[in-house]
Amino acid sequence: MDIIPHDKLLNLSGKTAIVTGGSIGIGWGISYRLAEAGANVVIASRNQEEADKTVSELNSKGWKTRFIKTDVADETQVQNLVSGTVNAFGSVDILVNNAGIYPFVTLEKLTAEVFDKVIAINLKGLFLCTKYVSRQMIKQGKGGRIINITSIDALHPSMIGLAHYDASKHGAWGFTKNTALELAQHKIWINAIAPGGVNTPGTGGKADPSFTANIPMKRMGDPDDIGKVALFLASDMASYMTGSQIVVDGGVLIT
Ligand SMILES: NC(=O)c1ccc[n+]([C@@H]2O[C@H](COP(=O)([O-])OP(=O)(O)OC[C@H]3O[C@@H](n4cnc5c(N)ncnc54)[C@H](O)[C@@H]3O)[C@@H](O)[C@H]2O)c1
Repeated sequence: MDIIPHDKLLNLSGKTAIVTGGSIGIGWGISYRLAEAGANVVIASRNQEEADKTVSELNSKGWKTRFIKTDVADETQVQNLVSGTVNAFGSVDILVNNAGIYPFVTLEKLTAEVFDKVIAINLKGLFLCTKYVSRQMIKQGKGGRIINITSIDALHPSMIGLAHYDASKHGAWGFTKNTALELAQHKIWINAIAPGGVNTPGTGGKADPSFTANIPMKRMGDPDDIGKVALFLASDMASYMTGSQIVVDGGVLIT
């Protein structure tokens, strides 16, 4: 057995990653670490202004990122994302399904429209990106990595008002395991990261003291706490993992 040095294991040079929702929040943390490790990173999100800012920030470090405007819930746009990535960089080797929304609405006020929107982005979007990216990976014949950003809510509810979200994230975890089983024959390894509370624009970017008091580590997560684990799963450090979900929550689930 060869013991490969860790810096080589973590080197993603020559690989191309797509990070959905990769311009802000957790997605920013993931784009940062993958680009730093040498990957070409395509940020796929809906907001041009946010993405332009992140692309120029990361490219100013000499890294290679670019933006392809994409709504992950739209099948044609996802197909264009994959072909656009291949045109720009020649392959797709890593997919991070991070784009997601979490509107707080109790069941009584939850409308069918909001329910459908959450499922369309958090679950159908993950399906569409996995379908078209894995098709491309199979064509390339070199395997690949898919990382799905679920949530601790894929395992256990964190608060009232997220039933629709928890349904989408339980679905994402089920989808992770079944696709991992199906695509292992193509050397496509598929794992999930389940974050706890992370400071992002989506969560308001500021920790509520009563919330952090209940976290064993006594702080919210930072996007880089998730970015580092995504780098691990995208790299050859995670050489014997598929169909797993890594909980990154400062200990919340053990309370
Ligand atoms: N922040 C947390 O505490 C937390 C905890 C657990 C899981 N998560 C999950 O992590 C992921 C990122 O969360 P965040 O807090 O960084 O969110 P955020 O709201 O700060 O950023 C979300 C990103 O997704 C993009 N996006 C939204 N809808 C999209 C669509 N239809 N197509 C393409 N891009 C779209 C947005 O443009 C943005 O770039 C989500 O899947 C979320 O469910 C977050």
